[in-house]
Amino acid sequence: MVGQQVVMSLQDLASIQYQPSTPKAYRPAIGLVGCGGITIEHLTAYRNAGFHVAALCDVRLDQAKLRASQFFPEATVYSDFRELLKNETIEVVDIATHPRDRVEIVRQALLARKHVLSQKPFVTNLDQGIVLVELAEKMQVQLAVNQNGRWAPHFRYIHSAIQAGLLGEVFAVHLACHWDHTWVRGTEFEKIRHLVLYDYAIHWFDVVRYFLNGRQPTSVFASTARVPGQDLAPNLLAQVHLTFDDAQASLVFDAGVQFGQMDQSYVAGTLGTAISTGTSIQSQQVELSTMGGSWRPTLSGKWFPDGFHGTMGELLCAIEEKRPSTISAADNLKSLEICFAALASADSGQPILPGAVRELPQ
Ligand SMILES: NC(=O)c1ccc[n+]([C@@H]2O[C@H](COP(=O)([O-])OP(=O)(O)OC[C@H]3O[C@@H](n4cnc5c(N)ncnc54)[C@H](O)[C@@H]3O)[C@@H](O)[C@H]2O)c1
Repeated sequence: MVGQQVVMSLQDLASIQYQPSTPKAYRPAIGLVGCGGITIEHLTAYRNAGFHVAALCDVRLDQAKLRASQFFPEATVYSDFRELLKNETIEVVDIATHPRDRVEIVRQALLARKHVLSQKPFVTNLDQGIVLVELAEKMQVQLAVNQNGRWAPHFRYIHSAIQAGLLGEVFAVHLACHWDHTWVRGTEFEKIRHLVLYDYAIHWFDVVRYFLNGRQPTSVFASTARVPGQDLAPNLLAQVHLTFDDAQASLVFDAGVQFGQMDQSYVAGTLGTAISTGTSIQSQQVELSTMGGSWRPTLSGKWFPDGFHGTMGELLCAIEEKRPSTISAADNLKSLEICFAALASADSGQPILPGAVRELPQ
């Protein structure tokens, strides 16, 4: 594509596909395991998309009952995921517990021959992840990871523009988030030492690969720091430099910004550049610039909840079309390789090769 300008008409630019997909006919019974805070967004998206949630499970039964009453009153509720997995009508299981609780639930769901959509971050150990990927292959079911950021309208639109050849060969991806993440105070999330670079940044590590067509960096260098006066346990400042043979990427996370919040993405290629800016991940304006001029699409939808239509829709389409999903766990382990390398780099002050660190540093 280098040197070959792709000039698209306004009509073509306006018709770039970025919306979540819905399978043609496949509407399986879905079971949700873990009915915590984020599942309001899962269930809103599924209800809007016309997906069929038939069962809800949480160790806190009242929580499962609450989500049923809010979204799918006909759903059966369980407090033990093993009981949900015995329900033979359930074909797809959405697992939205925290990573350490999740591995055994994913394993049992695969053994029960259910297709699985796991919340992110997928695992705390890459080799454990490989075992799950192999089990899914053996059981002939799909194992996908809920990287819903890929369906944030601005990221999806930029990706579609890249796929259409509008940007040429992408060589620079610079993503910067300046927001307030202190809402985690007193929650499970505050206990995650590398909260920002693991639990949050996994979306951005994944999106760098998404924009660079799956290319893997040759080196990862990261650092973290504290906001002055910070009392929250995890460091709220983090930055990462990713080196590629023919590209570079940087990520900036300022997670303690109280005023003037901003979220910005800059993606440059040999034929064009995409810039997306807004006050948050939920409110973004994209601008594409190429030899043909600039284009500012009006995008509908939001990361939350529509990204969850994107991920579940992609999994269901992949099952219907009998193809691997684009959010497969096997692919996701590559994003986690970069993430774990960044965590180790932040701890050691040294650049790290993706894949060299197999376990979430404690
Ligand atoms: N993709 C995204 O954009 C996104 C956004 C937010 C959170 N998440 C991820 O989703 C996961 C959950 O986040 P949350 O905010 O809902 O957390 P949460 O703490 O609010 O909820 C977790 C729920 O899991 C339940 N649970 C724990 N063990 C269980 C078990 N064995 N069986 C059934 N239920 C069990 C808990 O009772 C709780 O209700 C985390 O991994 C988080 O990183 C993803």
